[in-house]
Amino acid sequence: MKKLFVKTYGCQMNAYDSAKMADLLAPLGYAATDAPDGADMVILNTCHIREKAAEKVYSELGRLRTLKAEKARSGGRMVLAVAGCVAQAEGEEIVARQPAVDLVVGPQSYHRLPEMIARAAREQGHALETDFPALEKFDSLPEPSGTSISAFLTVQEGCDKFCTFCVVPYTRGSEQSRPPQAILREARQLADKGAREIVLLGQNVNAYNGEDWSLARLCDAIAQIEGIRRIRYTTSHPRDMGDDLIAAHGKNPKLMPYLHLPVQSGSDAVLEAMNRQHSHDDYRRLVDRIRQARPDIALTSDFIVGFPGESDADFEATLQLVGDIGYATAFSFKYSKRPGTPASTMRKQIPEDVKTARLDALQKLLLKQQYAFDDSQIGKVLPVLFEKSARDKGQIMGRTPYLQPVHVHADSALIGQVADVRIERRTANSLHGVLA
Ligand code: 5AD
Ligand code: SF4
Repeated sequence: MKKLFVKTYGCQMNAYDSAKMADLLAPLGYAATDAPDGADMVILNTCHIREKAAEKVYSELGRLRTLKAEKARSGGRMVLAVAGCVAQAEGEEIVARQPAVDLVVGPQSYHRLPEMIARAAREQGHALETDFPALEKFDSLPEPSGTSISAFLTVQEGCDKFCTFCVVPYTRGSEQSRPPQAILREARQLADKGAREIVLLGQNVNAYNGEDWSLARLCDAIAQIEGIRRIRYTTSHPRDMGDDLIAAHGKNPKLMPYLHLPVQSGSDAVLEAMNRQHSHDDYRRLVDRIRQARPDIALTSDFIVGFPGESDADFEATLQLVGDIGYATAFSFKYSKRPGTPASTMRKQIPEDVKTARLDALQKLLLKQQYAFDDSQIGKVLPVLFEKSARDKGQIMGRTPYLQPVHVHADSALIGQVADVRIERRTANSLHGVLA
């Protein structure tokens, strides 16, 4: 057996791709290991969304170069591969910056890894694949070899929205939906292997339109699969939130009351400069309609502070929006200049100290909302899907319908099942309760 180490950066779509790469290499004799030392193959599955994420890859490559040299001294060979969005965006530059890299493979071409490994070995040189062969990849991927209780399933890739700050339309290509039957097949395979929750993934998942099915129809079909108890989906764009999907939150009992719906900013001037194609009021009205369909829905979002030209008043409008909507939790970031995107050359870039102060203020407010939302569950009885053993002995960990982690003293036989839990208290990152 050869040892394979895969390190994943960034979003859940990368996590899905990493699992698929491991499945793809298993027939070549590679078994996953949890450290790079002595590995025969190391894959960094990378993220290009913000500068920090991309730079981490190069420092990791520096460390791996040493491990690769050690392995060579003892007569072995470590194949070093860079996959994911940095591979797509930077291609040959990666090899120029770090010559120890053998393979560079973009997110649309990793199904070609086996042939690339053979090619790199034959020619003792580098192999590079960053084509966009659309959906061909999915036809060439093997069945899932295993699964967790909550399983990711990519249904859509790419983005046509071109927000002016974002690299995704360049690294992941244009919006493509997989055919519904292929998705249902994969969902059944995951259910057979023990998955009880399916998380449908896509950069614009609610733009799903495979063979003219909507995401709502796909969720209804997945709800029919035996063993599947819960369905979630991420990430959605406000513009693609169709009426039937909103309605599904009131009708499909397996669709969880949780929605990640990024807004980025509460200021119309900033939203316009970001090319978001919606106003803050469009977003508020959309949230009202979603809450009419499912009043208890937990909303989450992404925010960017310090976008070029963002004034104090623009930032105040973001705080105002957050205050009005009330989020269960949210991600927030300082604007990061990405090469090749329109915003990177906009005038009125915001100084770092202003970005830091705004991020602090926003995160304080968001954390307050998160604690308030978590605290509002104390005393309630909620159905919890148990996923795994917890770090503390005798405890298992599961999630509420609102995706909050819950720790409970209970038998591990409950893992994979849904049981009622009375929520008793909250710690910083988790709820705690007892079986009801
Ligand atoms: N700078 C900061 N944050 C960004 N995001 C995307 N591009 C950038 C950027 N250049 C954030 C957005 C997006 C999330 C995945 O990452 O909020 O929704
Ligand atoms: Fe990036 Fe905007 Fe597309 Fe989201 S919708 S992936 S932020 S371009």
